[in-house]
Amino acid sequence: MAAGFIPQEIIDEIVARSDIVDVISEHLLLKKTGRNYQGLCPFHHEKTPSFVVSPDKQIFRCFGCGVGGNIFSFIMQSEGLTFPEAVEKMAQKAGISLPQQEMSENELKVLQKRERWYKINELTAQYYHKVLLDTKWGQKALGYLKNRGIDLHIIEKFQLGAVLSDWDGLINFMGKKGVEPRELHQMGLALPRNSEKGYYDRFRGRLMFPIWDHSGRVIAFGGRVLDDGEPKYLNSPDTPLFNKGQYLYGLHLAKGSIRQADLAIMVEGYMDVIACHQFGVTNAVASLGTALTSNQARALMRHTYQVAIAYDADVAGSNAALRGLDILADLGCQVRVVKFPKGMDPDDFLRKSGKEKFEELVMQGESFIEYKLFKAMENVNTSSIEGKIKVIQSILPDLAKIDSPVAKESAVKIIAIKLGLAEASIMDELRKYFREKQKFPQNKDRKQEKRENNIVNLRGFNKIQVQMLRILFEDNSIFPLLENAGGVELFTPPLDNVFQRIWKVYQVKGKVTGTDLDDKDSQLLAAILIGDFEITNTTKAAADYIKNLQINKLNKDYSDTIRELSEAEKMGDSEKLNQLLSRIEWLIQQKKLLAP
Ligand code: UTP
Ligand code: MN
Repeated sequence: MAAGFIPQEIIDEIVARSDIVDVISEHLLLKKTGRNYQGLCPFHHEKTPSFVVSPDKQIFRCFGCGVGGNIFSFIMQSEGLTFPEAVEKMAQKAGISLPQQEMSENELKVLQKRERWYKINELTAQYYHKVLLDTKWGQKALGYLKNRGIDLHIIEKFQLGAVLSDWDGLINFMGKKGVEPRELHQMGLALPRNSEKGYYDRFRGRLMFPIWDHSGRVIAFGGRVLDDGEPKYLNSPDTPLFNKGQYLYGLHLAKGSIRQADLAIMVEGYMDVIACHQFGVTNAVASLGTALTSNQARALMRHTYQVAIAYDADVAGSNAALRGLDILADLGCQVRVVKFPKGMDPDDFLRKSGKEKFEELVMQGESFIEYKLFKAMENVNTSSIEGKIKVIQSILPDLAKIDSPVAKESAVKIIAIKLGLAEASIMDELRKYFREKQKFPQNKDRKQEKRENNIVNLRGFNKIQVQMLRILFEDNSIFPLLENAGGVELFTPPLDNVFQRIWKVYQVKGKVTGTDLDDKDSQLLAAILIGDFEITNTTKAAADYIKNLQINKLNKDYSDTIRELSEAEKMGDSEKLNQLLSRIEWLIQQKKLLAP
């Protein structure tokens, strides 16, 4: 198992006392179908259930998006936890206490270090917050916030802070708390001096915004200048706790409202999120000025499938919106793009026009296809035939992505009106596009490609090896038989690795179940193990499959040896030649023994 510091017996005990069906049922509705359970996949948007849970093997798998694994991987993915965190959560549920003293000293150290990092970030946030409220420089920052319409309860909600312009305010404060500058450096809060020994504060003379992980722990900071200085924002670098593309600013505060409204509003900046909350729009999160990543999109999609992208009305914002749109649409999200008057961002608009007008604007946001069309028509003369053709050609791949017939029809209508064309001719073009795509499968759209890449494709694997692994899980007593017949030698990559790992588990525990797989293998194994698999006489089936595997192995050895033989002939290496000939003799004998 991946859990270095959690003893295997404890994990076994947790598994014994938990049931994957119970655990997953807390997240979605499962219906029994034969030996398995089925439901709508929580990891992608779907209308027909392709998410399967096997209580026998204690694994899950989605045939739509390809995710799969055991009880721990489910908790990790659905709640965004690390493996130890997932184990801890399951342990609590099962009423098992994790004995800290059983960790090795080293493992304990790692855990304690992480806890200390969180603590350092929390203390830093408290320090900045105090500077904002209690110092003269803080008064200036407070005035700035007040000027922008931010009141005290929002300042508290977002733990806003300020930092003096001296070089060691944080270092000194933390020093008194027993935190070394070296540790601050590790957390991106201090930098080593160039010329002399020692460190200095990274953030100076700024308004400070703590950044949280999705469960609300402070993991990084952003700092804004109060004037026109450069850079406007300074952000923490990536650290052991923080990774830019991983988190959405404000998600832990917004997720309740996002679920309630069944809509998330995605904005660009710290100040946009804060202004939204100030005006009572509490379902807003920010991607923090960087391109939205699919990890961020997935984190959001745990709470809703409807997203309004409300980026700044400038060139950078509109390009970023387009990229975000594709990422979200490809993951199956219903996206619309909110268009603000030129030069405005959500913060400007809220302050000028208020919550109601803002929400109206959000509702009037352009659909995926409207926005794509708008972008495709930019800088094209659509009164000419060539112009119309150009726009149609560039919009077809997006049109083809729309699954629902109703949505497709209304999209075609919109395009027809905007370009002054008949709907029928657009439908013709679409049909032609689909035909071409079939002829040239390399023209697959991105969505389809992504889906295929995500799914662990079993077609590429050796069927007999796959079936053998299934039999092993069905009946663990086959393990010694297989090992005697050649074990790992009978498998080829990547399944040889999988076998190697489960064989190790079997040697230690005398049994293997879905919950024994570590993260790396569990997705592949879930794909292998779930499915219509009914073999009544496993011993007989195993004997057949083992024989098949051995024959395959002999055939492979045979052709390898023949190849070596012709090499040796070329080289005139007679000693090698004799050796290889007698090996071939032996291989033929073996084959006769197996398949007379
Ligand atoms: P904006 O410039 O739109 O910032 O950049 P903002 O949040 O609306 O701030 P105000 O209203 O001007 O005060 C959007 C986001 O891009 C990142 C920040 O995360 C910011 O919130 N950014 C911007 C930086 O990281 N560095 C910069 O220099 C500028
Ligand atoms: Mn702004």
